[in-house]
Amino acid sequence: MGRAAFVLGVVVLMRFVAEALDNGLALKPTMGWLHWERFMCNTDCEADPDNCISERLFMQMADVMVKEGWKEAGYEYVCIDDCWPSKQRDAQGRLQADPKRFPSGIKKLADYVHSKGLKLGIYADLGYQTCGKYPGSLGHHEIDAQTFADWDVDLLKYDGCYLDWTLVGEGYKNMSRALNKTGKSILYSCEWPLYVWPYAKPDYTAIRETCNHWRNYDDVSDSWSSIKSILDWSAKHQDDIVPSAGPGGWNDPDMLVIGNFGLSHAQQESQMALWAIMAAPLIMSNDLRDICPRSKALLQNKRIIAISQDPLGKQGYQTFKENDFAVWERQLSGDRHAIAVMNTQEIGGPRKFLLGVAPGWKLCNPKCNVTLILPKYQELGVVPVQTDLMLPVNPSGTTLLTFTSLNTSQN
Ligand SMILES: *[C@@H]1O[C@H](CO)[C@@H](O)[C@H](O)[C@H]1NC(C)=O
Ligand SMILES: *[C@@H]1O[C@H](CO)[C@@H](O)[C@H](O)[C@H]1NC(C)=O
Ligand SMILES: *[C@@H]1O[C@H](CO)[C@@H](O)[C@H](O)[C@H]1NC(C)=O
Ligand SMILES: *[C@@H]1O[C@H](CO)[C@@H](O)[C@H](O)[C@H]1NC(C)=O
Repeated sequence: MGRAAFVLGVVVLMRFVAEALDNGLALKPTMGWLHWERFMCNTDCEADPDNCISERLFMQMADVMVKEGWKEAGYEYVCIDDCWPSKQRDAQGRLQADPKRFPSGIKKLADYVHSKGLKLGIYADLGYQTCGKYPGSLGHHEIDAQTFADWDVDLLKYDGCYLDWTLVGEGYKNMSRALNKTGKSILYSCEWPLYVWPYAKPDYTAIRETCNHWRNYDDVSDSWSSIKSILDWSAKHQDDIVPSAGPGGWNDPDMLVIGNFGLSHAQQESQMALWAIMAAPLIMSNDLRDICPRSKALLQNKRIIAISQDPLGKQGYQTFKENDFAVWERQLSGDRHAIAVMNTQEIGGPRKFLLGVAPGWKLCNPKCNVTLILPKYQELGVVPVQTDLMLPVNPSGTTLLTFTSLNTSQN
């Protein structure tokens, strides 16, 4: 018997007071595409011209993003990760793109991406070298920030390899100031807490003042065990991380791997639903030139994207975990809530979850309008308080709903 009862509660985590980085960006979680998880450090353009890290790859992704509805759905940033530069800086000490793989240079690539109405992201590292052993920005952060601004780049993912962890905070602040000094607003994606957690509790006040989003935990890979470990980590540390999220700065649980090889469709639905609940950046790493229609429809699902991009900008969190079910809630604007129920049992078929709408839950007093979003769209209609909803949830899948308060004053 797989049944659990859960009463919608009013769990409130403390709202954070720290100011967000003031560059006018990331007022909603960033949406885009990043090459790393799918294409990694593939630099062999002779053997694998279609999948190597080259200007051609990013131009093709930009083309598809416009043609296939990605841009219209909200995916905006086309992002380069590690392994783009030449191993040597130029005569003026500036980073330069690998001349064989990026013969036109990054400025031209940015122009191309902008001509499609999209934005370009780039990658650097605060240490001696990048994680892939390309030139690091230590001692060069000002010239690198200026170079990226001169190239008209719109986002910087700044990694933290090859530097003692005690200097990581200073490194992230240095680059944040250097980006600001260029006068161009560049979205700043950090990994500061990820490099600090093994030794100390990160200073989320400083992180929020410095970065537009920040990685807390391990790199995602194309597997359900990876997604599960990210969700487990996020739930376990939610008191530390959730209050720091809000317009201008977000926790980043890493890329969406939907549309690749490792996740079942139910598991892809779980990643999409929970990333929306967590107000996470929606940054895909997949091959948009060749993606299964169901994965594409999931990634472009307007109702899930609306939860992700909700203007209130409050990150959701786990409120219940028992009997192989986990429930996550996110408060939305307009007296609405999103609720995700995950079935964590990896055997058998769909299991029923009993969701009780409690009298104490102000939002549903006297009634709520309930809409099922995953696994399929269905209007469940108006539900008075003290109604129990029986929800089937697929193994390692997630049932996602929204609740809209219908107050007497609204009648
Ligand atoms: C630089 O920082 C100041 C102060 O926080 C802010 O007002 C300004 O908009 C920032 N400029 C850019 C380009 O981010
Ligand atoms: C930060 O910038 C200061 C001033 O330029 C410099 O002395 C220091 O070494 C930098 N630290 C890091 C980690 O980049
Ligand atoms: C409930 O929500 C659905 C879907 O958004 C909407 O079509 C319907 O009009 C709503 N019903 C009420 C009573 O608000
Ligand atoms: C609905 O009720 C809540 C809680 O009492 C209240 O804060 C909110 O303003 C009400 N909304 C409307 C539209 O009346």
